[in-house]
Amino acid sequence: QTAPLAATPPMGWNSWNHFAEKVTDADVRVAADVMVSSGMRDAGYVYVNVDDTWEGQRDAQGRIHPNSRFPDMKALADYVHSKGLKFGIYSSPGPKTCAGFEGSYGHEEQDAQTYAEWGVDFLKYDLCGLRSVMRSQKPQPDWNKANAIMREAYLKMHEALVKTGRPIVYSICQYGSDSVWEWGAEVGGNLWRTTDDISDSFRSMALIGFSQAGLERYAGPGHWNDPDMLEIGNGHMTSDEYRTQMSLWAILAAPLLAGNDLSKMDDTTKSILMNREVIAVDQDRLGTQGSRLAPLQVWIKPLADGSKAVALFNFVTDDVPQPITLRFKDIGFSSSVHARDLWAHRDLGLLHDSYTVIPPKGGVVLLRVWQ
Ligand code: DGJ
Repeated sequence: QTAPLAATPPMGWNSWNHFAEKVTDADVRVAADVMVSSGMRDAGYVYVNVDDTWEGQRDAQGRIHPNSRFPDMKALADYVHSKGLKFGIYSSPGPKTCAGFEGSYGHEEQDAQTYAEWGVDFLKYDLCGLRSVMRSQKPQPDWNKANAIMREAYLKMHEALVKTGRPIVYSICQYGSDSVWEWGAEVGGNLWRTTDDISDSFRSMALIGFSQAGLERYAGPGHWNDPDMLEIGNGHMTSDEYRTQMSLWAILAAPLLAGNDLSKMDDTTKSILMNREVIAVDQDRLGTQGSRLAPLQVWIKPLADGSKAVALFNFVTDDVPQPITLRFKDIGFSSSVHARDLWAHRDLGLLHDSYTVIPPKGGVVLLRVWQ
């Protein structure tokens, strides 16, 4: 009996946010090396995912080959596996990927088979090329039909992956269009992007992260909402802002796919990505996506042991940060609770009625609270 795929939100690394279209085989090997040497693998980050721009040409039999920056995909997958890690790849349901490389349109079964032969464990399937096919059709298809075409395309690749007999996590990437959370699991998705691309700015990260309220009921073991990858360590946010991303993604039970250059991580970046107490919130086996305690930027996630993770955010990045008061009865507890601060790694002891904090600018106080 094999474990269900993506029983907890997938964790790993993806090449796109830092390397984009310049990624090479050597970069991916270094990422795998560092995932082991830095302790990331042992903290739970296991997928090493190559994003767009690895693709080369098809041969006369239609088989896809990597381009010159990726001399041998099977050898690369073997290398990643030899480190106790898993290997991910990328394609599109369209004829072309977003970056204009070869997609899987019309070659779904053949590509799935090739990936399985290479030893692929994760496929990100990115809409782009299919959308341009739909947009270029004259007359324009009505969008209900276009959405049906999109769903069928995602289902088709899911069936092709299943047919290989290899467990391959299936990551649907179509930027949240057509309310994908309502049908992503039906077409076999283990995770589906709920938004457009993230970038390394507080504004982008916060707009995406804080807009996830309401999607809770679609997430659970095996099928997750994906508010896109981590930007932690990419350099354009403050450490407090990166702690906000890590905390919010953990509360959301979001996939944790690091997107930085792992070979250049400083200690702060490591301490954020590898905070095991925060990772435990994300990976909690209940798999409940946390929700917002409106009107505050206070987010709560129930955990399997009966405790709750509570994140208090300084959402507005006030220059003079404002205090936030959490009343324990508002989160389903009676007047006295135990609490632990998961960034300070400090027990706060027994607290009565409420707790007031001033999260740092752009930052967060993340607690675990129990009765
Ligand atoms: C769009 C996706 O949303 C990104 O995450 C990335 O995969 C790029 N495409 C690659 O072209």
